[in-house]
Amino acid sequence: MMVHGNDGATALVGQSPRMRQVMRLVEKLSRCRWPVLLLGETGTGKEVVARAIHNANPVGPFIPIDCSALVGPLMESELFGHVKGSFTGAVATKVGLIEKASGGTAFFDEIGELPLDMQVKLLRVLQEKEFRPVGATTVRHSDFRLIAATNRDLAQEVERGTFRRDLYYRLNVVPLRVAPLRERKEDIPALIAHFLECYGENHTMTQETLDAMLSYDWPGNVRELEHCIQHMVAINSGPLIHVADLPTALQNHVLTRRGQGMAAVAAAAAIAEPAPRMAPRMASSALPTPPVMRLTDMEKNAIIQALDYTKGDRMMAAQLLGIGRTTLYRKLKEYGLSR
Ligand SMILES: Nc1ncnc2c1ncn2[C@@H]1O[C@H](COP(=O)(O)OP(=O)(O)OP(=O)(O)O)[C@@H](O)[C@H]1O
Ligand SMILES: [Mg+2]
Repeated sequence: MMVHGNDGATALVGQSPRMRQVMRLVEKLSRCRWPVLLLGETGTGKEVVARAIHNANPVGPFIPIDCSALVGPLMESELFGHVKGSFTGAVATKVGLIEKASGGTAFFDEIGELPLDMQVKLLRVLQEKEFRPVGATTVRHSDFRLIAATNRDLAQEVERGTFRRDLYYRLNVVPLRVAPLRERKEDIPALIAHFLECYGENHTMTQETLDAMLSYDWPGNVRELEHCIQHMVAINSGPLIHVADLPTALQNHVLTRRGQGMAAVAAAAAIAEPAPRMAPRMASSALPTPPVMRLTDMEKNAIIQALDYTKGDRMMAAQLLGIGRTTLYRKLKEYGLSR
């Protein structure tokens, strides 16, 4: 499942129940102007979701405002603009981001980084729809839809006094949590296919590589997965991506798994091979060489192998595959393997 932005630039890839729920909300939210607060770990796709909300029904511009990049004395002028001559270096009048967003969407990324004095000013814009550029004597107007994102616990920041309670209530009208990738591993094959399409024309990967990616926890979430594909495509010369092409973090993960003896059969078959490029495990008997397979077929295969290995123990198979039990049940149904 994919939600495309009308400019084609933003695609929300994923089909897990959690991602579908996000997509449904995106559709709904695109039709109103309520503030949205996106929550989630780094790399989960908060900005993609923000853009998707705007793009599903684009009114006015989408202005990203990275609060973590707004530092020092120029912050206020970046946000609110300034008039010519208001301070040394203000050689021309500058329109701030708040004014640029008028009539459209302002995306306040990392809103938890906004210092308290700027929080007060932002609150005023949200309440009164007005602000004053640095050095200006009159107020100006700006009315925009606000989407904010954070990977911090803002409620806790409020308790600590580092984030204003009144602003928090204003932002927290519709909180939308984007789940970490490890809690929606069903999205991994679709994301791999998506990024392979973006970065690696005609590339495909061995079953074992897919296994490793499905069982890894992705602490850097979708961004880490995207970088992983970029890395593998960049260093791989042929069309088939092998375990040896994985970045270090995943290599370590593979080694740990091997150490735990979780894939003893697979290890015996191929992992210890000195030249894995020549004989990926899935290329055995029935398959032609080179073993280029659809990702869904790879997934189905992985499930069959896991069940085979665990002699039908679904609980253990799910563990080996690095997915939840309910996900495995759903996939068994999808692939007609549920008997
Ligand atoms: N569902 C998705 N479909 C397609 N691409 C995605 C998806 N989720 C994330 N990405 C990609 O992963 C990368 C990280 O996403 P994004 O920048 O939106 O994360 P973030 O939650 O804003 O992270 P941070 O908190 O570090 O800013 C981007 O390149 C984005 O295109
Ligand atoms: Mg971001």
